[in-house]
Amino acid sequence: MAELRKSEKIGIVGSGLIGRSWSMLFASVGYQVMLYDIKPEQVQGALKATQTELLELETKGLLRGKLNATQQFSCMSGTNDIKQLAKDAIFIQECIPENLVWKQELFKQLDAVVESHTILSSSTSTFLPSLFTAELKHKHNTIVSHPVNPPYYVPLVEVVPAPWTKPEVVQRTRALMDEIGQKPVTLSREIEGFALNRIQYAILNETWRLVESGILDVKDIDSVMSDGLGMRYAFLGPLETAHLNAEGMANYFERYSKTIHAVSETMGPTPKMEGSTAADISKQLNEMVPLDKLVERRAYRDNCLTHLSILKNKLNKKD
Ligand SMILES: NC(=O)c1ccc[n+]([C@@H]2O[C@H](COP(=O)([O-])OP(=O)(O)OC[C@H]3O[C@@H](n4cnc5c(N)ncnc54)[C@H](O)[C@@H]3O)[C@@H](O)[C@H]2O)c1
Ligand SMILES: *[C@@H]1O[C@H](CO)[C@@H](O)[C@H](O)[C@H]1NC(C)=O
Ligand SMILES: *[C@@H]1O[C@H](CO)[C@@H](O)[C@H](O)[C@H]1NC(C)=O
Repeated sequence: MAELRKSEKIGIVGSGLIGRSWSMLFASVGYQVMLYDIKPEQVQGALKATQTELLELETKGLLRGKLNATQQFSCMSGTNDIKQLAKDAIFIQECIPENLVWKQELFKQLDAVVESHTILSSSTSTFLPSLFTAELKHKHNTIVSHPVNPPYYVPLVEVVPAPWTKPEVVQRTRALMDEIGQKPVTLSREIEGFALNRIQYAILNETWRLVESGILDVKDIDSVMSDGLGMRYAFLGPLETAHLNAEGMANYFERYSKTIHAVSETMGPTPKMEGSTAADISKQLNEMVPLDKLVERRAYRDNCLTHLSILKNKLNKKD
């Protein structure tokens, strides 16, 4: 089994929720993962938590990769020195909090210590890569790899190049994501919200309008997704769904283009998401899930996603 371990090193900056997930994903295929955090005690805590989590996953039969939990954990180490983190790393994934100034400072620090072949990748959910890489000597090696929570069960990664990212860096990042069992999609250029949040915001837009107009309440609008559209979307995207809903997409357009356009025209302007409707939606949600039950409900969500990912793997297994 030893040959499954790789000699290449991956650096992880920030050992919070997302940093720990990336570490586990890279270690699952045998990369040497080194964790760094601005708070030294955080690194030790994260390593301990990861070890426990890997052993738990193994017990439940949910461990990813071909190495066992002990072997995966032996691929991980920690450091309090950013120079040591950068040394010989082929890829560094930044996972510090979503604060632009902090990211700018960190990338500047990394720029000073990385080697010329190292890819510098950010987990940012919202910042265009050009906002924190423009001044760097190694800006051609920077990229965003935006994961979805929880990354161990939701495989999508949005790979977003800055205007100056070398094509080869995009390809290497994408290949790496494939290799660790994630599902990369590559945007041809940076755009606000990337793809996932643009679509998510379009959905929030329309759910807002339907609640504001008193057509549906919060519980029922959520049901439209979780008991309706979402059931399909876990397996087929909206485009293939449409393709199957008619005799192919050309036929779908023939039948529905006019209707879709006409209905969409009634949707009105982009809502501001503030004022009395905001208060009402939030009141209904607090009744559905009181704030002291959020942790419990997140555990429910993650458990559902775990089972869904097992089901998807089973259904899509090619053999
Ligand atoms: N949590 C999510 O659902 C989610 C999903 C997708 C992407 N992201 C993105 O991932 C990133 C990390 O999110 P998270 O939820 O893991 O954050 P987190 O707050 O759990 O962890 C951040 C870690 O970074 C450390 N840190 C802070 N400044 C640092 C610095 N200068 N150098 C090194 N370490 C530093 C902190 O000590 C902490 O351990 C954010 O950009 C976030 O937008 C988060
Ligand atoms: C993990 O794999 C190693 C190497 O094959 C082996 O020595 C070890 O006993 C295994 N551990 C468990 C808990 O299976
Ligand atoms: C929100 O809806 C409006 C009206 O349909 C649309 O113009 C806008 O692009 C939508 N915004 C997002 C983020 O989808």
